[in-house]
Amino acid sequence: MSTRSTEQAYNYKVVRQFAIMTVVWGVVGMAMGVLIASQLVWPQLNLDLPWTSFGRLRPLHTSLVIFAFGGCALFATSYYTVQRTCQTRLFSDSLAAFTFWGWQALIVTMMITLPLGYTTTKEYAEIEFTGAVWMAIVWVAYAVVFFGTLMKRKTPHIYVGNWFFAAFILVTAMLHIVNHLAIPVDWFKSYPVYSGATDAMVQWWYGHNAVGFFLTTGFLGMMYYFVPKQAGRPVYSYRLSIVHFWALITLYIWAGPHHLHYTALPDWAQSLGMVMSLILLAPSWGGMINGMMTLSGAWHKLRTDPILRFLVVSLAFYGMSTFEGPMMAIKTVNALSHYTDWTIGHVHAGALGWVAMISIGSLYHLIPKVFGREQMHSIGLINAHFWLATIGTVLYIASMWVNGITQGLMWRAVNADGTLTYSFVEALQASHPGFVVRMTGGLMFLSGMLLMAWNTWVTVRQARPEAMRVAERMV
Ligand code: HEM
Ligand code: HEM
Repeated sequence: MSTRSTEQAYNYKVVRQFAIMTVVWGVVGMAMGVLIASQLVWPQLNLDLPWTSFGRLRPLHTSLVIFAFGGCALFATSYYTVQRTCQTRLFSDSLAAFTFWGWQALIVTMMITLPLGYTTTKEYAEIEFTGAVWMAIVWVAYAVVFFGTLMKRKTPHIYVGNWFFAAFILVTAMLHIVNHLAIPVDWFKSYPVYSGATDAMVQWWYGHNAVGFFLTTGFLGMMYYFVPKQAGRPVYSYRLSIVHFWALITLYIWAGPHHLHYTALPDWAQSLGMVMSLILLAPSWGGMINGMMTLSGAWHKLRTDPILRFLVVSLAFYGMSTFEGPMMAIKTVNALSHYTDWTIGHVHAGALGWVAMISIGSLYHLIPKVFGREQMHSIGLINAHFWLATIGTVLYIASMWVNGITQGLMWRAVNADGTLTYSFVEALQASHPGFVVRMTGGLMFLSGMLLMAWNTWVTVRQARPEAMRVAERMV
């Protein structure tokens, strides 16, 4: 293609690559989730090997679902959205290709080093120094591609979805670099420059904002593009989306201390984290309502469109988890919930219900478009996937609520003479049925992902190069 005709076409190649890898890593990361959930039911599945122990596979699960599955979904959708809403091709094809291959290399590094036991021990930031530096390089390239595309846009204003993607890219870079500041002693071992309570505070400033900016703000960017597109309606309120944006990014950054209640962190910092978390309910629900109300006048489409169902139910789970989160941030509630499965249930209400469901819905919209097809191969399979995902998520969350409250109450029960009523093992035994239900819910969610993989495979195999070129053309 000549330069001129390339300039009049979108770069969908990188979108296609990231979209396919989202499905692949979704299956792998969730299979890892099901494996560790099964290890909690049958500890023999640890196989008595260090590489396959729960302690090493758990961070592999979180890294795969957050960075591989979530990350690829964010790359695919942000590259697609920024081009279409700016009516221009990506800033640089080669840099975009570098972000794809660089990101896959990072994931493979995680898959090798984490089971081998190389870890910083900081949750969601386990990758050791060399990998962390590589991640920063790829991320800066991503920022250059994204912001470069915004700069060369042919539209007068920047669509609100891009604001969310932009904030997610900038803040993730800041969090990653600050939390990973360390002194390396060799390629695979480093020591953080922080110590004690400061180290903990920096880690949970990072951890909470990884949730806030990686797992929320980026996916809200997705929501602002794909919900209106799929519903065929404009965003409910543009004004609300601007208020939502500024309120969310101003408040999130202060809430990290709710992960460190009743620790050596100064009391005022804990209370600040609690209050900021409570206030965070307002912008979170503002965003949810804006997404939901976009369906005004189009609710009937939910009866026939399983993609729209994925998107709307993801918003419902977003609303639920952002109500639950502020409640859990209240110190007295946290005294019961902390260390228990309640936290795990909250995490997956957000992770499966919100993050995975909005990604899945968006991908079902995007995949046929970038492969020059009318729609996915089978709508029936999307519907089956929707029910497996919804019921799987509900089973996961409900079992963890029951387990969490049981554990919290059993741990704090005391006899008249002040001794503990239950031993730890008794609480563990009481949790076993919940572990079985969670594993079943996880298996259902994973089965849905396998249906998606099959549906994608058939859709992609039937794609024709000519139709793909037509789809790429800017009109
Ligand atoms: C089939 C689906 C999934 C299953 C069966 C599953 C299972 C699990 C299990 C068993 C744990 C460890 C719980 C514990 O230590 O007691 C866990 C932790 C975690 N998972 Fe998943 N998971 C799934 C999907 C996901 C997805 C899609 C995400 C993110 C997008 C996710 C994010 C996390 C996070 C962040 C943690 C750590 C939670 C914490 O430390 O509080 N999971 N998962
Ligand atoms: C207003 C929004 C939210 C607030 C105020 C909030 C608050 C909280 C609180 C208080 C905890 C428990 C901390 C502890 O006891 O250790 C927690 C844990 C967690 N939340 Fe949220 N949450 C919110 C939304 C979300 C969403 C939407 C997601 C997922 C997409 C999410 C993911 C997580 C994760 C992964 C953890 C576990 C962290 C860990 O200990 O490893 N949260 N959240």
